[in-house]
Amino acid sequence: MQFFVDTANLDHIREAAELGILDGVTTNPSLMAKEGISGEKNIMKHYRTICEIVGKDKDVSAEVISTDFKGMVAEGKKLAEIHENIVVKVPMIREGIKAISHFTEIGIRTNCTLIFSAGQAILAAKAGATYLSPFIGRIDDTNWDGMALIKEIFKIYTTQGYETAILAASIRSPLHIVQAAKAGADVVTCPLSAILGLFNHPLTDIGLEKFLADYKKANG
Ligand code: G3P
Repeated sequence: MQFFVDTANLDHIREAAELGILDGVTTNPSLMAKEGISGEKNIMKHYRTICEIVGKDKDVSAEVISTDFKGMVAEGKKLAEIHENIVVKVPMIREGIKAISHFTEIGIRTNCTLIFSAGQAILAAKAGATYLSPFIGRIDDTNWDGMALIKEIFKIYTTQGYETAILAASIRSPLHIVQAAKAGADVVTCPLSAILGLFNHPLTDIGLEKFLADYKKANG
């Protein structure tokens, strides 16, 4: 399973990249706004910087703002030109599916976002989306089981031989990451804090403390 960070924060992206386990980045308009990035020129520049930080062959999702086919295609083409790492993120709406089908035809990679049902996942796969982003945490927020959707999509994609990668999004905790791995997600995208949470175990800390204390005793 690949690890993406879901952020537009350059420090977080650098920190994740330094761990050597980062496979890509996802962003969205809310995450860009959180970092105070606005205006087409600045947004494009920020995406380029993210691509340069993560390096070769790491996918960076950049989301379109338009909601009509023509606008999405024009915007997606501009985004794809920024850097070879860019994957155009398109919302799950009718015009979005039309745009994804078009991008598939012309060889631009896509991430179909705002997925909340298996039916939507089938549409995105039929359109040839490279990635599919079901929003796990937001489903959990409504008192439904987000991870059950990943399992359902995994079953459908495996049965049907769909090639779209399942990118579990709106992942909020280390436990979500482990559950997504078990459910068959190809990728998880989450805040850096969720990835760092995977390190934590009190027995690791106690064990290391003892190893070091014993070494000190024996070696002075
Ligand atoms: O990748 C989607 C993500 O940015 C949404 O996460 O935590 O706002 O539901 P969240």
